[in-house]
Amino acid sequence: MKIVTIVGARPQFIKAAAISRAIQEFNKRSKTRLYEERRIREILVHTGQHYDYLMDKVFFEELKLPQPDYHLGVGSGSHAKQTGMMLEHIEIVLKKEKPKIVVVYGDTNSTLAGALAAAKLNIPVAHVEAGLRSYNQTMAEEINRVLTDHLSTYLFCPTGQAVRNLLKEGIKDGKKRIVKNVGDVMYDSILCYSKIAEKKSTILKNLGFDTRHETRVTSYYLATLHRAENTDDPKKLKSIFGALNEIGKNTPAVLPLHPRTRKMMKVYHLFPGFKNIKFIEPISYFDMLKLEKNAKAILTDSGGIQKEAYWLRVPCFTLRDETEWMETIKSGWNVLTGTGVKRIVNEVRHMEGRRRYLKGDGIFGDGRASHKIVQILVREFN
Ligand code: UD1
Repeated sequence: MKIVTIVGARPQFIKAAAISRAIQEFNKRSKTRLYEERRIREILVHTGQHYDYLMDKVFFEELKLPQPDYHLGVGSGSHAKQTGMMLEHIEIVLKKEKPKIVVVYGDTNSTLAGALAAAKLNIPVAHVEAGLRSYNQTMAEEINRVLTDHLSTYLFCPTGQAVRNLLKEGIKDGKKRIVKNVGDVMYDSILCYSKIAEKKSTILKNLGFDTRHETRVTSYYLATLHRAENTDDPKKLKSIFGALNEIGKNTPAVLPLHPRTRKMMKVYHLFPGFKNIKFIEPISYFDMLKLEKNAKAILTDSGGIQKEAYWLRVPCFTLRDETEWMETIKSGWNVLTGTGVKRIVNEVRHMEGRRRYLKGDGIFGDGRASHKIVQILVREFN
C-alpha cells in the first residue's frame, strides 16, 4: 500500500516522525507473515515551507525521519502564493505516485495544500490532529484546519473534544467518513524521546545554567512566540516583550527566536532592548524538551508547547485570548493571559497559589496514537 505524507513546517516533522516509526514497526512485523504488497510504502513530500537548518534538518536528524522523496522548495511568501505553489507541485507528485491515501498534519499552509490537491484528484485524505478549533476566523491556522477537516475522509482526532467539535459541523463517524479519537501523536513522541532528550541535550550547560545539584533546574522561564497575530502587531509584540522583561527581573526569560519573530523585531526596531530576555537561536526538539522540563514556567503562543508543558507538568501561560487546547486550561496547568503586560505579570506572580489537577491523564490518549492510525489505515486499504 502506498501512502504520501505531506510535511513542511517544524511541528509537522515531529508528528510525521511518530507515524513513520509506527509504519516501520508495522512493516517489520509484517515481513514474514504478510505479502509484500500489504506492507506500507511511505513517500515523504516536503513542501519546503520551513528551510533553515534549525527549523528543518535538525528535526530530520534527531527524529531519524527518512529523507524526503520530494522536496518542493516552496519557501516563504504570501499565503496565496505559498499555498498556490504547493498545490501545483503536490498535484504533479500525486499524479505520478498515485497513492492510496494522502496524510496531512495539523493546520499549516502545507496541510491545506496537501489536502486540497489530493481531494481534487479524488484521493482520500487522512488528517492527523483533526477537529481542533479556536473559533477565531482571523487565524490562518483556523481557516486551514476547518477546510482540511471538511476535505478529509479519515479524521484522526487527538481528544474527545475534537470529535465533538467535528460533530457540530456535521462531520461524524459513519459510512462516508472515519472519525476517531486516537489520541495525540505528539504525546507518543514525548513518551518516546523525553528520556533520550534528557541524556543527549546539553542546552542547559550551553546556556550557563548550573546543572550539578538539582534534579530540576528552575532558574529561568521559557518563552516562545511566533503566531502572526502576535508577531505582526507591534503593540502586542512590544507588550509581550515588556511583560517577559518584567517577569525576567529576578529569573531570566529564555526565548528561542522563531525567524518570523526575529524579522518583525527588526521591522519594528525592537533590537536591542529587553535586557532580561535571553534571545537565542531556534533550538532542536531534544533541546526544547530539556528546556521545557526544567523551566520554572513556560509562556507561549504555540499549540504544541501548551501540550508539552502539560505532559511535563510545568505551569504554562498562553499568550493568546483563546486556545484550541481547552483541556489543558481545565486541568489548571495552563492559563490564558492575553497579551497585556499587567495580566501576564500578575498571572505569573500568582502561579504558586493556583490549583492544578493531576487527574485527567488519558485526555490525549495512551501514547499509541500513531499505531492506532496505522492500524486503521491498514484495515481500510488492505
Ligand atoms: C507556520 C504555520 C504555523 C505553525 C508554524 C510553526 C502557517 C500559516 N503557519 O508559521 O501554523 O505554528 O509554522 O513554526 O502555515 N522563515 C525563515 N526560515 C524558515 C521558515 C520561515 O526565515 O525556515 C521566515 C520567513 O521570513 C517567513 C516567515 O518566517 O516569511 C514565516 O514563515 P511561514 O512559513 O510563512 O509561517 P510560520 O510563521 O513559520
